[in-house]
This record gives sequence, C-alpha cells and structure tokens, in this order.
Amino acid sequence: MVKYDFDCVIDRHGSGATKLENLECVFGNKDLLPMWIADMDFAVCPEIAEALKSRMEHPIYGYSTPSDGYWQSIIDWLDCRHGFKVSRKELTYIPGVVKGIGLAINFFTRPGDGIVIQPPVYHPFRMVTQGNFRTVINNPLLRTGNGYEMDFANLEQIFNEQHPRMMILCNPHNPGGIQWDAETLRRLASLCRKHNVIVISDEIHGDLMLYGKKHIPFASVSEDAEAISISLGAPSKTFNIPGLVSSWMVVKNPELRTPYYHWLETNGFNEPTFVATIGTEAAYRHGNGWLNQLLHYIEQNIGTVEDYFANELPELKPMRPEASFLVWLDCRALGLPQERLVDLFVNKAGLALNDGTMFGKEGEGYMRLNVATPRPVLTEALRKLTAAIKSI
Ligand SMILES: Cc1ncc(COP(=O)(O)O)c(C=O)c1O
Repeated sequence: MVKYDFDCVIDRHGSGATKLENLECVFGNKDLLPMWIADMDFAVCPEIAEALKSRMEHPIYGYSTPSDGYWQSIIDWLDCRHGFKVSRKELTYIPGVVKGIGLAINFFTRPGDGIVIQPPVYHPFRMVTQGNFRTVINNPLLRTGNGYEMDFANLEQIFNEQHPRMMILCNPHNPGGIQWDAETLRRLASLCRKHNVIVISDEIHGDLMLYGKKHIPFASVSEDAEAISISLGAPSKTFNIPGLVSSWMVVKNPELRTPYYHWLETNGFNEPTFVATIGTEAAYRHGNGWLNQLLHYIEQNIGTVEDYFANELPELKPMRPEASFLVWLDCRALGLPQERLVDLFVNKAGLALNDGTMFGKEGEGYMRLNVATPRPVLTEALRKLTAAIKSI
C-alpha cells in the first residue's frame, strides 16, 4: 500500500495561494502562520497531478466536451461513498459551490425574497443572499453542551410569519463540522415542503467524515427532501483541488430541474474546463486510499489540538468536528471582547485564524482553526498561541 507523507511541509509561496496572498489585506500582516481559509497544505493525490500533466502535454487546449467517464466517476463516487443514488440527468457541473448557490438564488427567487440561514454559518451564505438583494432571515442554531442543534420552533414561526422562498442548509455544517442526523434532516424536509421552501444543501464537506461517522446526503433522507432540494458538492475540499474549480449539483425533482438546467445550459454556466473534468475524474477514480489516509491524519491533528489545549490551555475548548478539518474553538472562558480575542491570535500569537463573528454574531467568543496542515506546523501554531496567552 502506498503511504502518503502528510508531514511534508511544502512552501506555498509563489503559487498564488489565497491563504498567503491575502494575509496582508485581510489581517494587515503578511508574516502570519496561515490557519484560516479552508484548503489544505498537503500535496494532492499523485494520480490527479499525473492525469493533468498528461493532458497538458497535448499541445492544443481547445474547446472540450466532458467524457462519459467524468460523469460516471461522480455517480459512482456518490453511490459507493455515501449510498446516494444519482442518475446522469439529475447531475450537472457548476463552477464552484458558492457560485452554484448564487445561481440557484437568482433562478428560483426574486429580489426581496426571504432566504433562511442558520448562523453561525459559512459567511458566503449571507453575502450571496444580500449581494443579490434578497433578505437574510436568521434561524440561529441552539448551543447544546459542546454542540449545536436546529431551532425548529423558531423556524416554524419564521415560515408562518415571513414566508421565505428558500433555505440554505450546511450539511455537514461549517463551522463546527456537524453532520446533521437523518431524523433532523427528515423533520426539516417535511417542514420545508409544507411551507413550499426550496432547500439548497451545501454538502461540500460531506466526503471528509471523521471517526467512522457517515455522511447523510439531505436529498436521500425522504421523498420530501428529494422533492425540494438542490444539492451541491465537490471534489475540491476532499482532494484539495479548489483551484481546478469543479463542483456538481443534483436536482432530483424534474419540476425544479428541467427549467433550471435549461437556464444553466442556455447561459453556459454548466460548462466545465477540461482541467476540472480531468482532475475530478482522477480524484474520484483513484483517490480513495489517499483520502482514507488523509482523514486519519486529520483525526490525529485534531487529537493533537485536543491534548494540547487540555494540558496547556484549558480555557480554550475545541469542539470536535464530525467532518472536515476546521476546529471551532470556544474561547469564551478567556473573557475577552472579540476585538481583543482576534488581536491576541493575530498580533500577539502571529496566527491567521478566522474570527468567529465572520460566521454571524453567534460566533462571538470563537475562532476557527484549520488543522489541515503538517503536524510540525500545527504544533508550532499551538506553541505560539500558548506563549501569547500566557503573556497576558
Ligand atoms: C460550506 C462551504 N461551502 C462552500 C465553500 C466554498 O466552495 P467553492 O470554493 O466551491 O465555492 C466552502 C469553503 O470553505 C465551505 O466551507
């Protein structure tokens, strides 16, 4: 069996990495350890690089048609990895999950329409909604012990009083890495169908399940979910290839799908580059072993964070994610206002982490730590943080 070396530290300078290039404009300092934006500091699975290199050697980069093998690789992946049965006609390409959310918002809703999101949540849900002149309706998650749950009572009230046309679900949920259980998803589907609400289910973190937990695709939980959902996912987070801009969308209900896919087609929004299709097919066909080792490495990194905080910084309580490589850090016990908390991480410790309030005001007292980095880098970050906290 090939053993992949996730401990290898790769210098990303000069590769145009957003994580580094945007440090100065986002944090006002380019000399920070980048533990923020959600990509990984690991080399891709070698078969992806080989497939791309081999295509690049052909000297003509003309218009290209996705192969049948590309579509089949997505269908097989969703079936084998998640038991999610999808047919070719239900599937389309989209140029990124956030763009896919924007496209669905534009097609299915009108300016002024209400769209429900559940903060603390991935901030582009709010930005895409507002940027398209739709109205954000917050249904904040409820904090429970060391986790979160959906507030169904408040959601029902929102549906009755504000009549939103759409809801954006994060499944698994970012931040926190929560995989919603089947019962919760079924209940949500039934309520949304009753109130004629379309659900966009963002499942981009669904392949990155940890500790043996299973991903549950929203559209798979019930007939209601199938009827009202637009599901989005990608090999981008899973295989560290967001730069290839490859994502997929599944719409099961033909009444939603037929006019929508026609619109995508007419506008050319569903046309992938060959870089996207070749990278995707190689990842889904050959990436299983790499992914399994990656998930194990991430679990070990989360363990490193948990042990470190338990021993050195018990004030910081990491929430153990069920999926993905983003650790939601509860820093409320430090008793610092958010501005000082961010200052502590950024200016005192020299670390670039996402400010919890980026995900909504419910993220006050939290920071989000990306642990998809070689362990020597992670331990260096933990050491810098300890020194900064002990100095205050
Ligand atoms: C929940 C979620 N959706 C979407 C994205 C970004 O997807 P894309 O780059 O395909 O737009 C991210 C990236 O962090 C994410 O966490």
